[in-house]
Amino acid sequence: MKTRHDYSLLAHNTFHFDVRCKLFVEYETEDELKQLIDEGTYFQGPWLHIGCGSNLLFRADYPGTILHSAIKGMELIDEKETNVLVRVGAGELFDDFIARCVSRHWYGAENLSLIPGEVGSSAVQNIGAYGAEVKDIVHTVEAIDVENHDSRVFSREECGYAYRSSRFKREWAGRYIITHVTFHLSKRPILNLDYGNVRDELNRQQLDSTIENVRNVIMNIRREKLPDPDVTGNAGSFFMNPVIGRQRFELLHEAYPDMPYYDVDEDNVKVPAAWMIDRCGWKGQRLGNAGVHNKQALILVNCGQATGQEVIALAKEIQYSVFQQFGINMEPEVNFV
Ligand code: EPU
Repeated sequence: MKTRHDYSLLAHNTFHFDVRCKLFVEYETEDELKQLIDEGTYFQGPWLHIGCGSNLLFRADYPGTILHSAIKGMELIDEKETNVLVRVGAGELFDDFIARCVSRHWYGAENLSLIPGEVGSSAVQNIGAYGAEVKDIVHTVEAIDVENHDSRVFSREECGYAYRSSRFKREWAGRYIITHVTFHLSKRPILNLDYGNVRDELNRQQLDSTIENVRNVIMNIRREKLPDPDVTGNAGSFFMNPVIGRQRFELLHEAYPDMPYYDVDEDNVKVPAAWMIDRCGWKGQRLGNAGVHNKQALILVNCGQATGQEVIALAKEIQYSVFQQFGINMEPEVNFV
């Protein structure tokens, strides 16, 4: 177990804000976590559990304890003719898990390639990309209840997944700490190439539709469009894509016939935040030390020395102009601390 006092979180948030916390505690096993919860010392004041901070915006120094899991390990716990169950420690990098699935030809995780973050937070945030969401492969989530110290195992249904959300993020926030996630992957070569330009890229490069090629193509698209957080501070998509009623959408579509959209169900349509932000002229713009990425308008970046407050100020301006032009409220995807 590692404990640090008055510790800089620079290396623990991908916006690279140099904020500090009072205490930083990293545990390596489930037993160490149980011991921490039983002792209760760190849970009396404010506390927050983080992954690698790839979806967090710190407004200021954190006045309490930041917890981080270093629970590692990927274990094949069941293998059938058509599928496998793999149990993974919450502190593993999600992309390391995908790399392993791809090398074994276990299908289902490849479209999520290169999303920053750890396994525990992937199951809180229901990360998604290229037509896939982590909920599609979650089998069970193991967690410890901070209130009554019980170990719990939740089925995927109990996690209440929705777009970039789960019960861990909503009504259970601050209640459970995830220790392991078991994923369900297929041994059948079923690939999902329908979203975005994945299929076009495979064709353009004359590549066969194999799991390795899908992973590589997606990694290349992401590297091309999204800023590398190791170089330019950012937290991926800053806003969620708003879902609006179909009637409202029809009116908008009349006014903006070139607006892309995705049907959610009969009554609802998802409209791309990136497109609206771009249409408002924000791409590549700056406000102080915060900016809008010049290749993908949904990504807000730290241009060097930005603070959380500067990024929030920019986000508010963007929300205001999108509301003025399209009458749509965009909700942040990034979690503010
Ligand atoms: N677009 C623009 N201007 C831009 C960027 C995009 O007009 O600057 C247009 C595109 O042409 C497209 C639409 O907006 O028609 C949507 O853009 P895109 O498909 O690139 O992705 P997105 O909807 O903005 C979502 C996820 C990403 C994920 C991609 C790929 C959300 C909030 N974001 O972005 O997730 O990688 O799809 O599947 O759902 C993340 O969560 O951090 C993240 C990067």
